[in-house]
Amino acid sequence: MNNAGKVEAYKSFYEQAKQLYAEGDIPGARMAFLRAAELANDISKSATTHDVKMEYYRLAAKILDFVKTHCSKKEPIKSGGGEQKGDMDEIASFKPVESDENKVTFDDVAGLEDVKDEIRYKVLAPISNPDLAKKYKIKPGGKILLYGPPGTGKTFIARAIAGEVDAKFFAVNCQDLISKYMGESSKQLDALFETAQKNERAIIFFDEFDSVASKRGDGTTGVDAEMARFVATFLTKVDGFKQSKTCKMLLLIAATNRPWAIDTAMLRGGRFDTQIYVGLPDYKARLFMVNKTLGDLPLDSDVSLEEIADKLEGFGGGDVVAICDRIKLEAYKRAVKTGEIHNISFKDVEKVLKGIKNVISVEEVEKFEKYRVEGFI
Ligand SMILES: Nc1ncnc2c1ncn2[C@@H]1O[C@H](COP(=O)(O)OP(=O)(O)OP(=O)(O)O)[C@@H](O)[C@H]1O
Ligand SMILES: [Mg+2]
Repeated sequence: MNNAGKVEAYKSFYEQAKQLYAEGDIPGARMAFLRAAELANDISKSATTHDVKMEYYRLAAKILDFVKTHCSKKEPIKSGGGEQKGDMDEIASFKPVESDENKVTFDDVAGLEDVKDEIRYKVLAPISNPDLAKKYKIKPGGKILLYGPPGTGKTFIARAIAGEVDAKFFAVNCQDLISKYMGESSKQLDALFETAQKNERAIIFFDEFDSVASKRGDGTTGVDAEMARFVATFLTKVDGFKQSKTCKMLLLIAATNRPWAIDTAMLRGGRFDTQIYVGLPDYKARLFMVNKTLGDLPLDSDVSLEEIADKLEGFGGGDVVAICDRIKLEAYKRAVKTGEIHNISFKDVEKVLKGIKNVISVEEVEKFEKYRVEGFI
């Protein structure tokens, strides 16, 4: 279903829920409201503009708030597709998301030397030389905020850190956490920390951190109150964290595309005071990614990987990889048709590069640069 279809479905479930509620069918209303909230959440997630994202995010949160206070009968919720979903009061079972098969390490990451350096001092060195760390009263772990335009490798480097230090990696989408567990997100957070700290080394990755730690959380409306509750619990956790017998290293990594929207309480000393800009890849980093995607493939002699890397100036890492994948696909399509190996040709490269559009604008990059230098926009 596209977003227009989802909006129609959302309206229809919402109207149906209101009617059922008016008729006194509370379990029915609850189900329809929850389906409407689920759709609003979906719409918010796939919206391309910030305003629409926030509008539907707030609608979802408002509906969940209403359900919680007015339709609290606890029955399993069936979604429209007939698939069984857990009750929203249920505590999510947090499981590490990385397995050995999809493990990535620093060797897979192009550039981002600032992040790698910080990790070397914060985590790797204290683990490899604990006596020296003890002398300086340094404990492995801590908090890092990664910020930058979409697709620049924030999630990727966080996973690579986990791979590098052999830590269990727990990834949480903050927007999901708050909208799915309205009124319960603090409990979820407790459960998450508890589960993570059962491991000797753990990383908790908070993606879309601005959606919970935003300056908007003034505590007056449903979603703002939820955010305020979340922030309060989060800060208690962060401030009160002590190494336990089982957990020797806990690293919290938060990521955002909107660092300027984050509540300054989160950024104070001792909290997320290490902020690292994850920006666009330079030529060397782009060449690394181009080489990794196309380097081992059959290429015509006039295809220059250096030239491709050069032409992709201004593109984020995610785009560089995706564009190289498209180049590769051109030759692969020919190979599938004929059943024979076909080299990637200069024409393939030209065809793909002609049609590309950069989603990261110069203005957006400037905004990030300004924030990096001045701390505000
Ligand atoms: N520095 C890099 N080195 C290697 N690959 C990279 C790098 N940056 C991005 N990529 C590739 O781009 C993909 C997308 O990057 P990623 O999802 O980490 O971006 P992001 O910064 O988290 O984006 P968003 O802000 O949208 O969440 C990665 O899976 C990886 O394949
Ligand atoms: Mg990401």
